[in-house]
Amino acid sequence: MLLQAVTGPAGQTWSPERFWQQRSGYAGSESCRGCHSGIYEKQEASSHARTLRPLSEVAEFKTGLPFELLDRVGNAGLRLSLDPSGSVLLSSVRGGEETSVSLRWAFGAGAKAVTPVTVNDRGDYVESRVSWFRGTGAFDLTPGARERVPGSFAETLGQVLSHEDRKKCFGCHTSRPMADDPVPARNEMGIRCERCHGPGLEHVRAASADSRRSSIFHPRDLTGFRMAQVCGACHGRPPREIDFDEIRQIQERPLAARFPSQRLVLSRCFNETDGGLKCTVCHDPHDDVASSPEALDTPCRTCHSPGRNSAAICPKASSNCSRCHMPKARVLHHTEFADHWIRAKP
Ligand code: HEC
Ligand code: HEC
Ligand code: HEC
Ligand code: HEC
Ligand code: HEC
Ligand code: HEC
Ligand code: HEC
Repeated sequence: MLLQAVTGPAGQTWSPERFWQQRSGYAGSESCRGCHSGIYEKQEASSHARTLRPLSEVAEFKTGLPFELLDRVGNAGLRLSLDPSGSVLLSSVRGGEETSVSLRWAFGAGAKAVTPVTVNDRGDYVESRVSWFRGTGAFDLTPGARERVPGSFAETLGQVLSHEDRKKCFGCHTSRPMADDPVPARNEMGIRCERCHGPGLEHVRAASADSRRSSIFHPRDLTGFRMAQVCGACHGRPPREIDFDEIRQIQERPLAARFPSQRLVLSRCFNETDGGLKCTVCHDPHDDVASSPEALDTPCRTCHSPGRNSAAICPKASSNCSRCHMPKARVLHHTEFADHWIRAKP
């Protein structure tokens, strides 16, 4: 398949799915602010931008502390508290033993959950066994922790991430490819401008010099499937029409509802429209999911309204479309996702 891409600095080809291959030419999101202030401010406040932060900035980890939990799976008493310097401490007590670690980064903007990750005194990256959940407004065991008995006392604080895993975690939650040791640059934590648009240094120079050469990736002209691939670098790689086994697995696996790019492409709305239904028909890529029911109905109505060339009209209701046709599935502990496989009877 032909990949849509732009040629960036030094003749490299920008491909949003393989962003780590291009390590140079980044200007930093801060540099986009001056000329694109509207988009910048909206994006800065979005979940994308806040999906990785220093834990010390996360309000949810201040108000509810200290917090204690008896972890029956790990057979340990866990405690979250604030130490005098203001950082959050996770401690574990078992028998007469005690161990603790200071938590460093927060994964997750808090729209669904926040999971801390840190480095312990042995230099291992650790994913905290305790997370915060929006659904309950409270702390509880991290998704997956119930199914994982800690291998050692130290691991009652959280699982040690392999080198590969930690590169993946930071890789999907930051905006610049990092060196082997992932300590992200302050301003490029979270999904910012250049993660989707590619290195912007050349564009900033050209625009500052008032040149008309665009020189930055604009995803507007992507087809629906290409956009599902671009967003699917993180939101689930979509299957091609000929990947029969993969399609069957995606249809049958409830957890697939977590991956909008994989489910959307199964929908008749996607397959029976010219170019395919794009993510940006329903989502502003610089903002969070629309919150009002009317705003969520608007895109459905652009195709499913009485008139010429209209797609079918619902015999049951005329509003709140997604509530019935994209129901929320509780596929992870305390967390639910809207199923993007749009069907008459999900
Ligand atoms: C000095 C001002 C300036 C700065 C700084 C700047 N831009 Fe732009 N940008 C523009 C102007 C003017 C246009 C419209 C003209 C064009 O297409 O080049 C534009 C267009 C764009 C487009 C649409 C491209 C197209 O093909 O139509 C994108 C995407 C974009 N900018 C992203 C960014 C990002 C990301 C940054 C930060 C890395 C950034 N811009 C920094 C001035 C700027
Ligand atoms: C580099 C990885 C990455 C890419 C690429 C990406 N996303 Fe995301 N997206 C995330 C992460 C991580 C979150 C979770 C944010 C949080 O912590 O709540 C998210 C959250 C979202 C949300 C929910 C925001 C909210 O809280 O309301 C929407 C909608 C979304 N993404 C759409 C898109 C679309 C559309 C694209 C493509 C144009 C895209 N994403 C590309 C990683 C990515
Ligand atoms: C393939 C890219 C990818 C990798 C790898 C990845 N994440 Fe995410 N993460 C996402 C996306 C996309 C979302 C938002 C939608 C979702 O939850 O599936 C997200 C959401 C989250 C959230 C918010 C809760 C939620 O479910 O929305 C947390 C916390 C999180 N990730 C932590 C981690 C940690 C810790 C790791 C490493 C063990 C990791 N992620 C690895 C893409 C990724
Ligand atoms: C999650 C991916 C993502 C991120 C992050 C992102 N953009 Fe975009 N951006 C897009 C997509 C997709 C479009 C095309 C929207 C459309 O189809 O009109 C776009 C379009 C644009 C445009 C062109 C708007 C127009 O009307 O032609 C500009 C300028 C732009 N983005 C700047 C930015 C800046 C500045 C940031 C950081 C503050 C940013 N973007 C962050 C995905 C992203
Ligand atoms: C770009 C146009 C477009 C958009 C936007 C769109 N659809 Fe569709 N949808 C279609 C087409 C075309 C079909 C195929 C059948 C037909 O002609 O009605 C379809 C089919 C359906 C079906 C029947 C599926 C089945 O299992 O037979 C449902 C239900 C549906 N859409 C609901 C929605 C909802 C809810 C939304 C908004 C969240 C939406 N659609 C957005 C074009 C669209
Ligand atoms: C036909 C409209 C439509 C299209 C197209 C669409 N979405 Fe959504 N999306 C929704 C609705 C509706 C919700 C749930 C909003 C709510 O009730 O919170 C949602 C929620 C999300 C969320 C938040 C997590 C969740 O499931 O609650 C993410 C992430 C997301 N969409 C990503 C994408 C990506 C990536 C694409 C393209 C592959 C896409 N969406 C295409 C309508 C759409
Ligand atoms: C209360 C739940 C509910 C709501 C809300 C709802 N629908 Fe439906 N819809 C259904 C059910 C159930 C069916 C299947 C009817 C049948 O097969 O008898 C259906 C069928 C459809 C079909 C297929 C019709 C056909 O002839 O094949 C489309 C398209 C559709 N709905 C679109 C929408 C849109 C667009 C909205 C919002 C304006 C919406 N629905 C709101 C429950 C709902």
